[in-house]
Amino acid sequence: MKKFTLGTPDEFVPSKFCDNFNYVETDVKYPESNFRYRKTKAGFVVEFPMEPGTQVFGFGLQLKQFNHTGSKLKLCVNSDPVSKNGDSHAPVPFFVTNKGYGMYFDTARYADFYCGKRKKSMKKQENMIEGGGDTEAELYKIRLENDMVMSVLIPISEGVDVYVFEGDTITDIVKQYNMLSGGGADVPDWGLGMMYRCYTRWNAEQIKKTADYLREADIPCDMIGVEPGWHSHKYPCTFEWNLEGFPDPKGFVSYLKNKGYHVNLWEHAYTHPESCLYDKLYPYSGDYITMSGIVPDFSIPEAKKIFADHHKSECVDIGVDGFKLDECDSGDYVGSWGFPLLSEFPSGMDGEQYHSLFGTLYSKTILDALGDKPTYSLVRQIGALASSYPFVLYSDLYDHREFVRGVVNSGFAGLLWSPEVRFCFGTEDCIRRLQIVAMSAMCLVNAWNYDGIPWVVHECEEEAREIFKLRYKMIPRLRAAFDKYKATGKPPMRALVMDYTSDPETYKIDDQWLFCDDLLVAPIFPGTEDQRDVYLPTGAKWVNYYTDEPVESGWIHVSTKDIPIYRRVD
Ligand code: GAL
Repeated sequence: MKKFTLGTPDEFVPSKFCDNFNYVETDVKYPESNFRYRKTKAGFVVEFPMEPGTQVFGFGLQLKQFNHTGSKLKLCVNSDPVSKNGDSHAPVPFFVTNKGYGMYFDTARYADFYCGKRKKSMKKQENMIEGGGDTEAELYKIRLENDMVMSVLIPISEGVDVYVFEGDTITDIVKQYNMLSGGGADVPDWGLGMMYRCYTRWNAEQIKKTADYLREADIPCDMIGVEPGWHSHKYPCTFEWNLEGFPDPKGFVSYLKNKGYHVNLWEHAYTHPESCLYDKLYPYSGDYITMSGIVPDFSIPEAKKIFADHHKSECVDIGVDGFKLDECDSGDYVGSWGFPLLSEFPSGMDGEQYHSLFGTLYSKTILDALGDKPTYSLVRQIGALASSYPFVLYSDLYDHREFVRGVVNSGFAGLLWSPEVRFCFGTEDCIRRLQIVAMSAMCLVNAWNYDGIPWVVHECEEEAREIFKLRYKMIPRLRAAFDKYKATGKPPMRALVMDYTSDPETYKIDDQWLFCDDLLVAPIFPGTEDQRDVYLPTGAKWVNYYTDEPVESGWIHVSTKDIPIYRRVD
């Protein structure tokens, strides 16, 4: 990997806040002369050639699009993206290509990436498209393939560090990007099990009953999540126990721990005026209110310490070992909530920079509270250089195919994502959704808004039990894959194109993924009569995971009630 400093980079960039940042320069073939850059009124512009046939992937947790070739993306933090424009819980200015390289732009600005544009030439004939095409598809193809450049605009900035990574496969490239931020997350064994998050209106007794039910019903589960109800005020948060519903917080947590559970508490950082933290955090917060609370600036050591110390004494010291850091993105389409981009934070960051860094800084603060305690927690916004933090992304969106695309796309950018089961539209939906969470980075049932247990309500407890048992059977494999992630940066969940980069068939497959080292998962969606086409990359030998029977590579048609899984055997 090699860093190219173009112009004068900003002060507040992701690398500055990445605890495990580890830049080890090596030679790359990519010529520096490929970069053209200039300062414009809009910001800093970087351009470089895109050779014909270049396919572009990545840019963080993009739920709406897989292959970004030819697209324009603006990498905005947003909890409710409505189109393929780059909005995301976790946008990351890092892309990879099928041409042996990937690039990371170290910026906290909402950068624009134009993934294939043609520049004007002085020579008229060079501006014309050679040949032309008869059909619309041909015409667009020709347009896309001639003299293309990728153009990047970093608003307001006067420069940027660009890191170039090279490798034969996209997996090789992504590994290096992940190693730049210290490798993959350190995840405890219990984090690889199931997490059940209880209805937000349940009190301590009802949650304890649910924990008992899971044990009695032989449903394997390692983590119990407590939603907003534990706070005395939740929107904004006090971070103080609601003693009416939870009169004995320590006893409650101990009960769950004695039953073998790990305990995870929901919160967001917007601090309630009645919280004991409010006055202490006030001077270290931004100049706008969000959800009626102040927004702490976690880049300031004093704010981080105040927040972490409180969480340690109120929660960690009584046994809590994980948190769900909610609402640290913002919403532009549903309610326009969140602090404005023009906000000012005491560190000197503006709202745009703080939005990009908020989830990471918040996660680091919570890791301080946890001290040496291992965790596998949740966060709703995180960005660049985050691979070494043990936090999994989730969303309030719920489109089944988008959730699967999230599993596939997260691996391009050092992110972990759970396509949580929140509620179900029927029995088939319940089973099919449980199957995908079982084969993802976190097996999460987030029944926060559900006065019941989804598989009990939908009468499929037997099937649910089998699916969770399948997950637990995967744990040794996940353990090995997460250890490898930590040591080498190889993500446990990967798009097919990551390992099989030279196979053009994989350039469009956004509904299958590689799981750990040797498995390929191809979920079946509800409403398909239990059928789908599956692509098994050629050049590898595959067997059916359940039966060990050999399966031809290439496209096959399958019909099954199970989730199709294949094992690579060569
Ligand atoms: C949402 C979050 C949900 C749930 C809910 C509780 O913001 O995405 O998973 O935690 O808050 O109010």
